[in-house]
Amino acid sequence: MTIMNVYEPSNLNVIILAAGKGTRMHSSQPKVLHEIAGMPLVSHVVTTARDLGACEICVVYGHGGQRVPELLKNENLSFAEQEPQLGTGHAVQCAIPQVARTGRTLILYGDVPLIGKNTLQKLLSTGTPFGLLTVHLENPGGYGRIVRDHQGKVFKIVEEKDANPGEREITEVNTGVMVLPTEKLANWLGRLENHNSQGEYYLTDVVAMAVSEGMDISTVHPEHEWEVLGVNNRVQLAELERIHQSRRAAELMQSGVTLADPDRFDLRGSLHCGKDVFIDVNCLFEGEVHLGDEVRIGANCVIRNAVIDRNTIVEPFSHIDGAKIASSCKIGPYARIRPSTILGENAHVGNFVEIKNAEIGTGSKANHLSYIGDATIGSGVNIGAGTITCNYDGAKKHRTVIEDGAFIGSDTQLVAPVTIGRNATIGAGSTITRNAPEGGLTLSRSKQVHIEYWKRPRKD
Ligand code: UD1
Ligand code: CA
Repeated sequence: MTIMNVYEPSNLNVIILAAGKGTRMHSSQPKVLHEIAGMPLVSHVVTTARDLGACEICVVYGHGGQRVPELLKNENLSFAEQEPQLGTGHAVQCAIPQVARTGRTLILYGDVPLIGKNTLQKLLSTGTPFGLLTVHLENPGGYGRIVRDHQGKVFKIVEEKDANPGEREITEVNTGVMVLPTEKLANWLGRLENHNSQGEYYLTDVVAMAVSEGMDISTVHPEHEWEVLGVNNRVQLAELERIHQSRRAAELMQSGVTLADPDRFDLRGSLHCGKDVFIDVNCLFEGEVHLGDEVRIGANCVIRNAVIDRNTIVEPFSHIDGAKIASSCKIGPYARIRPSTILGENAHVGNFVEIKNAEIGTGSKANHLSYIGDATIGSGVNIGAGTITCNYDGAKKHRTVIEDGAFIGSDTQLVAPVTIGRNATIGAGSTITRNAPEGGLTLSRSKQVHIEYWKRPRKD
C-alpha cells in the first residue's frame, strides 16, 4: 500500500455535491444558491476548495437545472449533471469522468458552507490515503455512524436507517467529507449497489470496500463543530449566517477594530481597516471596503465598494456606494453618496445630500438637502441648502462645473451644462442657465414687489 503522507494539492481533485433539492427550504431556487454573507452556499465551498490549491474542482448539480453551473460559469470549474439523484455514491460517480484519475479526491457538500481550510488540510495530511472527517455528537440522529472494529479501526459506515439498535448507539458520525485515492474511488463506485433501506447508491459504502482491501482509514475531527453543519432549512441558514458573521467580527476586533456590538455587524464582502477604526451598531459592509486609521462609522450605515481615508467621520444612516473619500471628511447623518464620487480632504456632506458621479474638492461643503450629480466642484466651495444640479434633460446627462471658492446660495438650480467661475457668488433662489463669471454676484430672480391693498380671499 502506498503511503501518501505528504499533502500534494497539485494532485488533488475536489468534488462538490450540490444536486440535492433542499425540500425544506420551500424555495424555487436550488438550496446551494441560497446565500450566507451575500454569497451562495456553494460559492463558499468553491472558495475553500480553491484555497486548498486543488487542481480540479467539479460541482455535481441536478435540481434547479442549469442555475448552478450558470452562476459558477466564470469560476473555471467543471460540472457534472446528476439527473435523477440516486444517492451520494451515484453523485460522485457522475463526476468521475470530469476528474483526473491520478492523485486523490476530496468530497465536499455544497450545503455545508463553513467547512474550514485548516480542518481540510488536517484531513489531507493524516498519513493514510483514505481520510474521513467525523464528529462525536450527543444526539447523532439522522447521521451515518462510524463503525469501528475491536482494535478501534474504522470498519464501515452504516446509515441510520440501515443501522441495528447497537449501531444506533454510536455517537461518532460521518460528516460526509472524505478524501481517498481517485482510481480506487472510481473502481469502488462501479461496484456500489442500492440494496438498502433508501434504495440509494451510498458513497459511504466505499469505506467497507476499502477496509476489505486492507486499507487503513484515518479519521480527523473538525477544528470547530459548526464547520460541518449543513443547511436544510432557513432557520439553519440564519444560524450559519450568524456564526459566519461572528467569526468575521472577531477577526476584525482581533486586528484592532472596535465594533460597538459584534452581534449587530454584517459583512458581505471584505473589509480592510487601519488602526483604531470604530464601527457603531447595525452597519452593513458590502463588496470591497477600505477604512483608514481612525475612521468612525456611525450607526445604521450601509457602505459598499468604498475607500474612506483616515479620520473621516460618517454619521448615522448614511449610504455610501462606489466612492473614494479622502481624509478628515464629515459625512451625514443621512447622506447618500452614489457611484463614481470622489471627495477631497475635509469635504463635508450633510443630511439629505445626494451625490453621484461628482468630484468635490478639498474643504468644500454641501451640508443640507442637495442633489449633486455629474459635477466637478473645486476646493473651498460652499453649496447652500437645497441646491440642485439639473444634470438630465430627459435624454442626456450634462456636467456642472463649480470652480474654487464659489458660493452657491440656497435653493439654486444649476442647469447643466454650466460653469460657475472662481469665487463667484450665486444669489439664493436662482435658476442658473448660463455660465456665471469669476468673482462678483450672479443671480436670476424676479424683483420682490409689495402690493399694499391686496386682500386675502375670505370664506363667506
Ligand atoms: C449523508 C451521508 C451520511 C452523513 C450525512 C452528513 C451518505 C449515504 N450518507 O447522508 O453518512 O452522516 O450525509 O450530512 O452519503 N446529494 C447529491 N445527489 C444525491 C444525493 C445527495 O448531490 O443523489 C448531495 C446533497 O445535495 C447534499 C449531500 O449530497 O449536499 C448529502 O446529501 P444528503 O441527502 O443530505 O445525505 P444524508 O442522507 O444526510
Ligand atoms: Ca444531510
